[in-house]
Amino acid sequence: MNILILGSGGREHTFAWKIKQSPLCEALYVAPGNSGTAAIAENVAIGVTDFQAIKKLVLDKKIDMVVVGPEDPLVQGIHDFFLKDNDLKSVLVIGPEKAAAELEGSKEFAKEFMIRHNIPTAAYQSFNASNVEAGCQFLETLKPPYVLKADGLAAGKGVLILNDLNQAKAELKSMLVDAKFGEASTKVVIEEFLDGIELSCFVLTDGKNYKILPTAKDYKRIGEGDTGLNTGGMGAVSPVPFATPEFLNKIEELVVKPTISGLQKDNLPYKGFVFIGLIKVGNEPKVIEYNVRMGDPETEVVLPRLKNDLVEVFQAISNQTLDTINIEIDERAATTVMLVSGGYPESYEKGKEITGLNKLVDVLPFHAGAIVKEGKIITSGGRVMAITSYGNTYSEALKKSYQNIDKLHFDTMYYRKDIGFDL
Ligand code: AMP
Ligand code: GLY
Repeated sequence: MNILILGSGGREHTFAWKIKQSPLCEALYVAPGNSGTAAIAENVAIGVTDFQAIKKLVLDKKIDMVVVGPEDPLVQGIHDFFLKDNDLKSVLVIGPEKAAAELEGSKEFAKEFMIRHNIPTAAYQSFNASNVEAGCQFLETLKPPYVLKADGLAAGKGVLILNDLNQAKAELKSMLVDAKFGEASTKVVIEEFLDGIELSCFVLTDGKNYKILPTAKDYKRIGEGDTGLNTGGMGAVSPVPFATPEFLNKIEELVVKPTISGLQKDNLPYKGFVFIGLIKVGNEPKVIEYNVRMGDPETEVVLPRLKNDLVEVFQAISNQTLDTINIEIDERAATTVMLVSGGYPESYEKGKEITGLNKLVDVLPFHAGAIVKEGKIITSGGRVMAITSYGNTYSEALKKSYQNIDKLHFDTMYYRKDIGFDL
């Protein structure tokens, strides 16, 4: 098969690394890709939401399967675009159709879905510019901290957690009236704060059947001890040690099963990954969000633990025969530590040369915001590279990631030295 991966992060490099190992994969393309994918596939300089350019590429290169990395093309309906086009409709697309991608595209849609299907989640109400005052009154009935969520996609920045009631009211107004997050904050979901520890559960579905992938825990804050601004993710660990078999069973029964059957009942066509963000409150799982794609950097620890041929799994998703696949998981732990540009997630400089890659031993360096220029690998984004290792325990894996990071350098390089600190 000729396969195209859409995206340019560490997640997409990991997909490329895994797909490349499949005997079913003939030619592999990544659009737009990065320095990591350039070394194992052919990068094509096309944006992930430029559907016409993607169509041309798919026809020119006789692509049989498209694997969609990020959420934007899914929420904009790339799968529907393929199904509606006579020249493209036989191409397999891994990712949900637009109606189902609303689970990530709209927080309100996701909350309504959870309530309708009795899936445990935080109590909430949603507001728009016409009922800001009601929103403020609702805030007064809650205890701090206050959780405000822009309804639409806001590049991971749309969730505010505030301790002060007046500040929460001011932010609510700024989101609804002053369009703090543009279109994305035309509606705001105000939700009960859940106190507990976070983990993510990844599910593959063909729309009928499902398979659960290993759990992972992501470290979202920029600073050690989980302090400072939210980022796309600074590191990840899989499996999550506190996710015992009993707790996983609860997640499957209370969350995964009703989610998959809810997709069917609501006629939401889904062939792809469901990323379920959870908080463990006491001993109960509660859903904080759905994402309609894999996580980044969670992919960098989940896929290395999957023993199956990923292309075979994707074919089964397309044919709705996922029930015939036996998912096999590597018993070892995997960890990843993200190297970022100094200043990220606020402003930072790009174009710094990355050195030391040839000295790495026994790790998987997944490139993210890095490109090749004049024969050198230079930084091109905030999150630059995820250094993944295996170990018998997560501490052993982390030690290996950190020992190798000591050999790497780029000007302003920063990373968290405490990934896994809370486990
Ligand atoms: P989300 O984009 O919905 O994943 O939210 C971003 C982050 O905000 C999550 O990873 C959680 O750390 C936090 N968060 C979201 N919703 C809640 C909630 N109801 N209670 C506590 N923390 C939350
Ligand atoms: N690491 C969180 C995400 O991919 O959304």
